[in-house]
Order: sequence, then structure tokens, then C-alpha cells
Amino acid sequence: MIELVESVEDVRSAVAQAQADGRIVGLVPTMGALHDGHVRLVERCLDEADWVAVSIFVNPTQFGPSEDFTRYPRTLEADVDRCRTAGAALVFAPTPAVIYPGGPQSTFVEVPGLSDILEGASRPGHFRGVATVVLKLFEIVRPDVAVFGQKDYQQQLVIRRMVQDLHVPVRIVTEPTVREPDGLAMSSRNRYLDPDERQAALVLYRALTLARGAAMAGESSANRVRQILGETIESNERVHLDYAEVADSDTLDPLDRLGPGIRAVALVAARVGSTRLIDNLVLTE
Ligand code: PAJ
Repeated sequence: MIELVESVEDVRSAVAQAQADGRIVGLVPTMGALHDGHVRLVERCLDEADWVAVSIFVNPTQFGPSEDFTRYPRTLEADVDRCRTAGAALVFAPTPAVIYPGGPQSTFVEVPGLSDILEGASRPGHFRGVATVVLKLFEIVRPDVAVFGQKDYQQQLVIRRMVQDLHVPVRIVTEPTVREPDGLAMSSRNRYLDPDERQAALVLYRALTLARGAAMAGESSANRVRQILGETIESNERVHLDYAEVADSDTLDPLDRLGPGIRAVALVAARVGSTRLIDNLVLTE
């Protein structure tokens, strides 16, 4: 049995019932168009909690004016089926008016610094929208634990920072990126890709694995690894590099050197046709 609810009141009463039954409550925030990566998060959440809610909300405030908010895939019925099969107890699929009672430009949360680099530099206001909606979801559901994907590496760091700074009583868990058999990171936006673009998109993961290979083989210059990332991605004429960074895996500060004791992550963003894709790999694992 899975419940599909739209209102804050319905979420709160379902959560209250679960808590009265002594259950640990988990939350998996999503924007829907669910794929196996999302399902993995639900399964992980069920390892950490015994009653799991999935939120499905295409959050307008995290999209820029020229981004894909209106054409973002919306597949609620199939999504609810996937949540049911995965073992979730509740799907919360609110309207914008439920999430933004004061309108989208009312109260917001900002995590400065971390929000202004990489994805934040390319998508101004994006992480403000993410942090704001995630805090609202935390306040509505009040979960004990929430699961996020490493696929959005910077996002999970922004959320961890917000939770720490605002003393939000939720444990954040990050689940590794789920990939297609050929390495492409699963993403709701992959369905925008035509077959040629789908093939071209593989260059992101190839660049990341080459970068990790170099780091594992002892390359100590972060710039050399950035160069490997950039050159590999730009070798495909269908792919337009946005950024290729090698950064401290906790702070995202750009690194100069790689080596023992330095925890590094490679992060890339590129446009394939009109579709913007991101991916990352921890270099020191
Ligand atoms: P969305 O892109 O739907 O992703 C929901 C969650 O699934 C995020 O935590 C994301 O990192 C994770 N995810 C996506 N692809 C994944 C993959 N291939 N492997 C593992 N996890 C994956 O991220 C958002 O929505 C929104 O910004 C949200 C947090 C819901 C706020 O609106």
C-alpha cells in the first residue's frame, strides 16, 4: 500500500501515524521522472529508516529563466508505481502553491560560498532554490534521515552545510551514482538525448575515469588532471564543455596538488546538443 498525497496536512498525519508506530522516518526528495538511480535512493533509505516518503516536485525556483522547467519530464503515475515497488510508504506530490504559500519570491535560504561556484556559477540562484525547497520538505516531513545522490555532488554538500548551520535534526546520507551499463550517469535529462547525443554523452564518464586513472597512477598536478578532463570532453564535437574542476571533496576548493591524504573530486558539466549534463568522480577511491 502506498499513499499519494498533495497537502502538508496529509503528509503530517501520515508521518505522525508512522512515528506513533515507532518507525524511523526517511525522506527521498526528487523532481520525479524517476529512474533506477532514484529507486536506489529509496532502497538505501529503507536500509536507514523503516518508513519512507518520496517527494516529487519539479521545483520552479531552482530553474533559471532559460532552463527546462516547462519541458522537464512529468511522469507521476509511473513514478508512483516505481515508489510502490521500491517499498516507499508515501509519495508527496504537492503543487507550487502548497510549497510556496507566499509565492516563489518570499522567504528563502541561502548557503553562500558553496552555492556560488561550479553549478552555482553556471546556474545563478540554483542552489538557493534547492536549499529553500529542501528545507521546506524537511519542515513538512520532519524526517529522521534523508538520502541524496552523489550524482549531484555539490548539491549534497550544500544541503549538508545548510543542515549543519541551521541545526536541522536530520541525518543526511549520500548514495553513490547509479550508472547505465556503459557508464553514463542516470539522469532524468538523459531522455532529452537523441541516439547520437546519447553516444556522445559517454565522453563525460570517459574523461572522469581517465582523470581517476591518472590520479591513481600518481599524477600530482591537479592542472594536469583538469587538462585531461577538458581535452577528453572537448575531443567530441557534439559536446561543449562548461567546466572541468578538480577540487577538495569536502569544501570544493580548487586543488593545486594531488597526493596521499588529499581528498579530491573531479566535477564536470557539459552541454550535449541542448541538454546540460553533469557528472563527477571521487579521484582518491
Ligand atoms: P532529482 O534530479 O530528481 O534528483 C533527486 C535525487 O536523486 C538527488 O539526490 C539526486 O542526486 C539523485 N540522483 C539523480 N540521479 C542519480 C543517479 N544516477 N544515481 C544516484 N542518485 C541520483 O536533485 C533534485 O532532483 C532536486 O534538486 C531536489 C533535491 C529534489 C530539490 O528540488
